[in-house]
Formats: sequence, C-alpha cells, structure tokens
Amino acid sequence: MTAKLINGNEVAQLIREELKQEVTQIKEKYNVTPGLVTILVGENPASISYVTAKQKTSKDLGFYSIQDNQPQDITEEQLLNLIDKYNKDPKIHGILVQLPLPKHINETKVLYAIDPKKDVDGFHPVNVGKLMIGEADFLPCTPAGIQQLLIRSGAKIDGAEVVVVGRSNIVGKPITNILLQKQKGANATVTICHTGTKDMAFHTKRADILIVAAGKPKAVTADMVKEGVIVIDVGVNRIGMTPEGKAKLCGDVDFDGVKEKASAITPVPGGVGPMTITMLMMNTVKAAKLHAGVK
Ligand code: GUN
Repeated sequence: MTAKLINGNEVAQLIREELKQEVTQIKEKYNVTPGLVTILVGENPASISYVTAKQKTSKDLGFYSIQDNQPQDITEEQLLNLIDKYNKDPKIHGILVQLPLPKHINETKVLYAIDPKKDVDGFHPVNVGKLMIGEADFLPCTPAGIQQLLIRSGAKIDGAEVVVVGRSNIVGKPITNILLQKQKGANATVTICHTGTKDMAFHTKRADILIVAAGKPKAVTADMVKEGVIVIDVGVNRIGMTPEGKAKLCGDVDFDGVKEKASAITPVPGGVGPMTITMLMMNTVKAAKLHAGVK
C-alpha cells in the first residue's frame, strides 16, 4: 500500500477561507476586529520565521495585529509588564509569547501572566485544566490542528486505537486529552509512549492512528507500524540547507519506509506545520467573539 498524502497546506487554506468570512461577519455585525499580538524575545532564527508567518497570516485574514519584538536582554519584570499592558488592551484579544524564552526568564511565570481569556496558545494552566475536563475555550494550536487534519481527511477517530509518541505539554499530553474526550471527532482509546516506554514497537504496531512528536528523526520506522495505519508526523528536524538557503526539514517518521504501509500520512514540511498557525488564527477569532459576547 502506498499512503495517501494528508495535505496540511490544503486543509489549512480551506480553514483560512472559512475564517476570513467569519472575520468579515463579526466586523460587520459586532464591530469587532480580532486583535493579535505576537511577542518575540531575541533573535532565534526559527522563532523569527514562525512569528513572521503568524503575523503574515493574521494580516491576510484582516486582523488587527501587532508584532512586538523585544531584545534578548529584556528583564522578566519588563516582559511581565508588557504582558500586563496587552492584558488590559481592549483591541487585543490574543497574546502569543513565542517560545523558547531566554534562560534568565521563567517561562512558566510568563505563561501564567497571560489573561486566560487571551491565551490563544492554550498554554495557561486554566486552559490546560479546562481541556482536561472537556470545557476548553482554546485548544493548543498544534494538537488542535492534528485533530482537524484527522477529521477533514475522513479518519475514523471514534473507537480508534490512537498511539501518541511523545509526552510534551505542547503536543503529546494535549492531543491525548483532546482525542479521548467523549465528543465528536474524538472518543478514541489513546496510549502515550515516551522515553520510559519499554517496548515502543509493541504499542505503535497496534495503532490505527499514530501521532509522532518524539523530537527525533526516524523515531518511527516501517517495522514499527501496521498496514493501513494513519500517520501524523509532528516532527520538525532541520537537516541542513537547500541550495536556495532555506532550512531542509524532515519529520520524526521514516517517511519513505512508512508510506509503503500506511493508508495516509502527513509530509514534512506541508503536514501539521501549516495547521498550527491556522489554529492560532481560529483561537484568536474565538477570543474576539468571547470578548464581544458572541456565541
Ligand atoms: N514555539 C514552538 N511552538 C510554539 C507554539 O505553538 N507557541 C509558542 N508560543 N511558541 C512556540
């Protein structure tokens, strides 16, 4: 079997078109323009490229958007004051602090400082807790994007054996919580594997849907999956440069081997990546609607 490609660019584009219409509607009906600030500290090249893409997309969708760049040596107190300013700004509905932050800044403290109603990343403990009990306002963007990719590519999630490789707070834990909820587009049996798992292949071979966020190239190979599995590869590993000077990427799955057994698979790049930004936009529209009291 050669797998069908799950095209993240196509799905993301479709959702962006839907969001664009929604933005026009809420502007006309409620006189509210979704507002997003992206805060970038320092000059990490990967962070710059992510934030630039987030800004571009938000402008394309008609948001009010601010790119707030801060120097590497900003103090924690200054950053907390900045967040407080945006917490109080009625034109801003979503606040995104790009991670990672420099070592002298306590990331947890910064994430706790964001008003949970403006936490469009879904990283604040209030939102993490709400997700746990199935009451989330904002789903974290990457896992939300994974769920959308599965739903919109017609995967049967209800009752599926889902195996997640990786237990991070950004992907592994939240996607587990999302897919196990007794809700539409979820209701799966979910297993998480991690660096402490004794026999990873034992678990991955049972998966109908395999979600890999291991942070390691080729962490999953063809001998570790069953025929017909649906594979979502969340990995982004930089493995050099293209002749045009762009970063060359690969995922956490041995794509060439696994695609021969899978029924569907996401490529890297062009799979999960475009979805993450799109879900940030969806969360910002939601935040603007919550702010305006719109259902
Ligand atoms: N750094 C890498 N991924 C993310 C993300 O989803 N949100 C933020 N804020 N920073 C990141």
